[in-house]
Amino acid sequence: MKAIQTTKAVVMLNWHVLAFGHGTYSSKMLKTVLLRVLLTLPSPVEAGYPSPAASSAAIPASQVIQDVSAKTLDRKVIEDHLSVQAIIRSYQLRGHFLAKTDPLGMDSSAEPTHRFVRQLESYHLDASDMERIFTLPQTTFIGGQETALPLREIIRRLESVYCSSIGVEYMFINDRQKCDWIRKKFETPGIIQFTKMDKRLVLERLIRSIKFEEFLARKWSAEKRFGLEGCEVLIPSLKAIIDECSGQGVESFVPHAIGKGRLNVLANVARKPLESIFCQFDSKLEPTDELLRLWLNETFEVMLDKLFLVDSSRQGSGDECPNSWRSAFLTGCRYETFHLSDLPEYSTHGTIHIVVNNQIGFTTDPRVARSSPYCTDVARVVNAPIFHVNADDPEAVMYVSQVASQWRCHFGSDVVIDLVCYRKNGHNEIDEPMFTQPLMYKTIKKHKSVLEMYADAKIEEGIMTQQEFEEEQANYEKICEDAYQNAKKIENTKNAEWLDSPWTDEDTLAHIGGKFSQLPEDFTIHGGLKRILKARSKMIDNREADWALGEALAFGSLLKDGNHVRLSGQDVERGTFRFLHDQSARLVMWEAQFGDFSNTAQCIIDQFISSGQAKWVRQSGLVMMLPHGYEGMGPEHSSARLERFLQMSIDDPDIIPDIEAEDFVVQQLYNSNWQILNCTTPANLFHAMRRQIKMTFRKPAIIFTPKSLLRHPEARSSFDDMIEGTYFQRLIPELGVATEKPSNIERLIFCSGRVFYDLLKERKETQKEDRIAIARVEQISPFPYDLVDAECRKYSNAELMWVQEEHKNMGAWTYVQPRIQNLMGGQTVRYSGRSSAAATATGNKSVHTAELRKFLNVAMKLD
Ligand SMILES: *[C@@H]1O[C@H](CO)[C@@H](O)[C@H](O)[C@H]1NC(C)=O
Ligand SMILES: *[C@@H]1O[C@H](CO)[C@@H](O)[C@H](O)[C@H]1NC(C)=O
Ligand SMILES: *[C@@H]1O[C@H](CO)[C@@H](O)[C@H](O)[C@H]1NC(C)=O
Repeated sequence: MKAIQTTKAVVMLNWHVLAFGHGTYSSKMLKTVLLRVLLTLPSPVEAGYPSPAASSAAIPASQVIQDVSAKTLDRKVIEDHLSVQAIIRSYQLRGHFLAKTDPLGMDSSAEPTHRFVRQLESYHLDASDMERIFTLPQTTFIGGQETALPLREIIRRLESVYCSSIGVEYMFINDRQKCDWIRKKFETPGIIQFTKMDKRLVLERLIRSIKFEEFLARKWSAEKRFGLEGCEVLIPSLKAIIDECSGQGVESFVPHAIGKGRLNVLANVARKPLESIFCQFDSKLEPTDELLRLWLNETFEVMLDKLFLVDSSRQGSGDECPNSWRSAFLTGCRYETFHLSDLPEYSTHGTIHIVVNNQIGFTTDPRVARSSPYCTDVARVVNAPIFHVNADDPEAVMYVSQVASQWRCHFGSDVVIDLVCYRKNGHNEIDEPMFTQPLMYKTIKKHKSVLEMYADAKIEEGIMTQQEFEEEQANYEKICEDAYQNAKKIENTKNAEWLDSPWTDEDTLAHIGGKFSQLPEDFTIHGGLKRILKARSKMIDNREADWALGEALAFGSLLKDGNHVRLSGQDVERGTFRFLHDQSARLVMWEAQFGDFSNTAQCIIDQFISSGQAKWVRQSGLVMMLPHGYEGMGPEHSSARLERFLQMSIDDPDIIPDIEAEDFVVQQLYNSNWQILNCTTPANLFHAMRRQIKMTFRKPAIIFTPKSLLRHPEARSSFDDMIEGTYFQRLIPELGVATEKPSNIERLIFCSGRVFYDLLKERKETQKEDRIAIARVEQISPFPYDLVDAECRKYSNAELMWVQEEHKNMGAWTYVQPRIQNLMGGQTVRYSGRSSAAATATGNKSVHTAELRKFLNVAMKLD
């Protein structure tokens, strides 16, 4: 559940504008998927399950029985045929549990319960039946041209198809055609064949893969490189996929998260120049090559998180090349990636998932890490076939890679390769694995490398001579050595190819008119919406915008300027966005899933959004709209956790920037890691969105959005605040009577967000409009020092107070307090708001109201 939420946050990283909508995601989403699966469960026949009458479906059952009795068929013959059919089905269903996929031969996933597959007596047959000839059912292709085989041969063939180096897991797929497709690919006798050339190529690729790691190990023995040792076959496998897919017309490949062996993949698959890889080790690093740097420098756990989340983010960039077939790889099996796999606008039309399954995570054994037999079990939810394969059998791996590629090209859906391998070293090269996995590592120590084994076999087979083999190795060695020497000459490894393409800065200011209140011609809408449109049209006649229109105008004007706007988040098409969504057929308006509670997306926010530029060298103009507010709706509606975002903002409270500097505002924003905004007017929201595009650089914007302001009569803006010459206001100063005699003002309140309207009302009711001034901080971070300073100076006799509706240990208090205080030379800032609490809000309406009452009283009580 947690992981699912996280996906949604990052999905947008590459987009110009993104809004997260309202509503929760995970449980709903799961339910939908489960329901879908349940509803579409096929009949046994469709599912490819042999049913005795399946092949003679046209013949009524009664007739079959008559026929049988007419010919007085031996009852035992029928029963024995059914038994043989059951044997075949057992292998198809459970053979993978018995397959020899573990190179170390230690795998214990073959539970005793699976043993019956091989026990004749469980099918009421015995050794005396072995030579009897049985007609094969239509649900198998093991016969090839033959329709009947002796039982001994049937079992032999089943054993070789299902229980050797490949474990094919597919019988859960609820589509007979797909099951047959796979059966054909694996059961057809003699289908797995490689030419001499193919085998040689595999051997050459293996040499590169292994020698690369050896070279690094030799040159930098004290460095962590998270090498591929134990799964070197990944390189030929990736190459085989690329070969096969290219052959089928695939034009581009999008590799996702590659875990171990990343450097090897860069060198031998992506063909990154070896020089620029080697020089990374010699501290001539430039931050531009962060991916590698992180790889070399950080701990594996962090990497796991980071890299393994990347694939979901790539999945979100669904329209990168909308019409060209894309292929994608990644290591690891992430639940959310599978769930995104078939969503409109998210689908990659099939991802090839490769699990580098070293049978250990870091130090945790699988049996205490998850509750299902395979780490790939999550793929079953989307009906992706799973091919478990022994990484020590390169030809089996090649075959599986090819079939996976064909599946991807044929069906356009996900497929999984579970490369069962081992980890030769510890979780990195410096780590001692004997501490945690003594038994396994005893076995590993004695284990021959895949290259040794494969080379021996192929030399014997005459694919390559011993001499050629040695030459091949020496050649690659020399390539590495040359690159190593060249790398020393590289002064600066700043390589532009890893940088973002710069964002274009379009300069148009929108002409925004009544478009949003008119219906396009051929458009039918719900009656309720008509009413909304009418009200909107009236608003527009008055040259006004409410919250929804403010948003609509921002998106509309950006689209008009040719910008791509993508909205993502569950329920974004409801509420404020509804009208826009109706136009989405023509405007590019995306809609996807995101819940309103960003908390479970915290790791994405940490990894990509708060630190995106510093760590990943990627500027992001992402907008996160997080519904938040204290409206008596309970803790789940007040949990956007503003304080966390503020805590991660990088400006130092003890350093007051030079507010006199000419470019203070731009510079301050440029230096920050993101913007934390809390708008109180539609016009300001409008400007906040547009600014995202109009700025010459990108900063993520976290915007806290209120529910109640959607319909708040005072939360309206005139068009005058949106037309040319207007701009985003980082702070909206007091505008009322308090400005007339500033020296009379006894208290200056700073606040942010919707609580402003409560304060306004309260001030009016208590008739303090000439004694209390209220300023709204719309951009909380980076902190608008200059404007706060101006307000404070204006009301120079006033005491300062911060009012928030959040609890004291939440909200913006701890962020603004030291900043205002330092700015004002130590002047005290008073607090009015809810007191500290563990939960974000009370669920009890009357307690909620009492709390509100209390802090409003404090805010208005002058002593
Ligand atoms: C590696 O990490 C350490 C500790 O986090 C840091 O001090 C150092 O600068 C990093 N080195 C590189 C090359 O990034
Ligand atoms: C931010 O805005 C939201 C929504 O208007 C509001 O509920 C919240 O109190 C504001 N938070 C702060 C710290 O100003
Ligand atoms: C809500 O809080 C009030 C005041 O503490 C209390 O009297 C009331 O019973 C509570 N209501 C519920 C439903 O718990």
